[in-house]
Amino acid sequence: MTKQVIEPSGSSSQAIGWDDMLREKGYVLIEGSNPEEAVKYAKQLGKIIWTTDVQIRKSKGMLTSTRGLEFHTDHHHADYILWFCHQQTTLGGESVLVDAKEVISHMSDLDREVLRSINLFEHKIFDHDPEYYPLIDASGDVYYSFWEYDEVLSANDRAVLDRFSKLLHTHNHVNITLQPNDILIINNRRLCHGRTEIRGTQNRHLKRYWINKLGGA
Ligand SMILES: [Fe+2]
Repeated sequence: MTKQVIEPSGSSSQAIGWDDMLREKGYVLIEGSNPEEAVKYAKQLGKIIWTTDVQIRKSKGMLTSTRGLEFHTDHHHADYILWFCHQQTTLGGESVLVDAKEVISHMSDLDREVLRSINLFEHKIFDHDPEYYPLIDASGDVYYSFWEYDEVLSANDRAVLDRFSKLLHTHNHVNITLQPNDILIINNRRLCHGRTEIRGTQNRHLKRYWINKLGGA
């Protein structure tokens, strides 16, 4: 696989390994690939545990709507997410990334302690999935879902979460508009991702792979 790998800083294209970039920056953009190679990249990172077509549908799901999506991580079993772009809309649909671990490292010790104690709602997808999962787990990995936490959190927990959320928005972002045949891979336990509203032709179609590095879910 010798496709063009784009330096995440956007400074220049360099012939360094895509996996090195992923490790260093938490994401990598690979341009001009194809669906078969996307699967090969995914399998080099672990086991594909879930595959989803991300495209506009007339359903209530946020993922398949045209709405923008706030910063979040996907399921905690997905160590990596790989998106392959089949088609992109003519306006919007931009992927936005932020390094959540970096953001957390800039917070106070007290706030970090509170974040470690917070469990967030998790969708049940795999057998034995817990209903809640820690925002920061024992290995320091991040899980951040923004839905349905109002009911179970104390006022102080909520205030710390709000601070975290605000910092995610003010920290350095990476904005990428995937083009057909591009691959974006992120470390889902380190980076949060979101997307801007899908406007224009709205014929955006991404294939999303969840990858577990240890081969299970
Ligand atoms: Fe997501």
